[in-house]
Amino acid sequence: MRSFTHNGPGGPAAGSDVLVIGGGIIGLVTAWRAARRGMSVALADPSPGGGAARVAAGMLAAVTELHYGEETLLGLNLASAARYEEFAAELSDASGGLDIGYRACGTLAVALDSDDRLHLRELHALQRRCGLESEWLTGRECRRLEPMLAPGVRGGLRVDGDHQVDPRRLAAALVAACERAGVVFHRAAAERLAVTAGRASGALLDDGTERSADQVVLAAGSLSGRLDGVPAEVVPPVRPVKGQVLRLTVPPAYAPFLSRTVRAVVRGSHVYLVPRENGELVVGATSEELGWDTTVTAGGVYELLRDAHELVPGITELPLTETLAGLRPGSPDNAPLLGPTELPGLHLATGHYRNGVLLTPVTGDVMAEVLATGEVPDVARPFTPRRFSPARAGAAAAREESYA
Ligand code: GLY
Repeated sequence: MRSFTHNGPGGPAAGSDVLVIGGGIIGLVTAWRAARRGMSVALADPSPGGGAARVAAGMLAAVTELHYGEETLLGLNLASAARYEEFAAELSDASGGLDIGYRACGTLAVALDSDDRLHLRELHALQRRCGLESEWLTGRECRRLEPMLAPGVRGGLRVDGDHQVDPRRLAAALVAACERAGVVFHRAAAERLAVTAGRASGALLDDGTERSADQVVLAAGSLSGRLDGVPAEVVPPVRPVKGQVLRLTVPPAYAPFLSRTVRAVVRGSHVYLVPRENGELVVGATSEELGWDTTVTAGGVYELLRDAHELVPGITELPLTETLAGLRPGSPDNAPLLGPTELPGLHLATGHYRNGVLLTPVTGDVMAEVLATGEVPDVARPFTPRRFSPARAGAAAAREESYA
């Protein structure tokens, strides 16, 4: 491993083995894990620990968020879920004792009407085909587990393996762990990727400094496609998908309000209620394709409260403490882009879409392995950025034409 410095156009350039662009949970976990493998690591972000994790509810919902066509992603999600408990303990040690709010509480997905029930039956069948643990309950059994549920709940799926974590505490612990592992933070945004002799070689930051590195990881969430200087064929195909989320507080006199995550699809929209041990109740989330808009709208708040109220009528008694909108980094197949690009020296860790919090442990392990050895671990092979490279897309189109 080597570190070097040289003078660039923006002033003296500091060098490291790895430069991570983006200080959300994905960039942070990559930096922390790489530093633990002995690499010198720098990270550029105006406010590390921010990003989508400030908004996210923190469900670890590999089983209840399973969708048709996402069976390959399920493998990665399950691998990460299986690592979470150990990851939480390790991160607590490495951060000087910070707790990330890992709670093995399980999840109950319920149905309110016959359409919802049908949808849940289909999900149950898919889960069973995939070998997942999920138990069908009657409405009465659901209410026995969660007495605050509406009397109209028609049935549900009990998934004891889908847990939760507090994403804000996760981000804070990752910042602390990075600091203790010697990661150098540059509190500025990356403006342009530096490319030298056909290889990514660092970045120019918006404070005018230039940072050089042997390897660069682009982990800027929904902004990952907007870095200047990235060759067009390598630009990650990520887009922002807006999510509005509410935070309420359960006063001690009302506790326990809910003992596990409760979720449902109400009139085609997903709603979930995530109860934390500290009394916070997170209600999410809208899913809106509105570009870079992060306005909290009356309509978004209304829909979330309306649907949550149908599930758990007592929710309207609780103080509403925060409303916030964030941007998920969506990718064309809803799965992340992990590992090397066609540009030597440039790696991606982005496009985690609905699963950024869940995929944090496995992303850290995968990226550290890629950076240290150049090898993509088996678990991440289906998710390399090369699946979207224009050369592959061209070959696939030609194949389709020849079959037509
Ligand atoms: N995984 C929850 C969400 O993206 O809303």
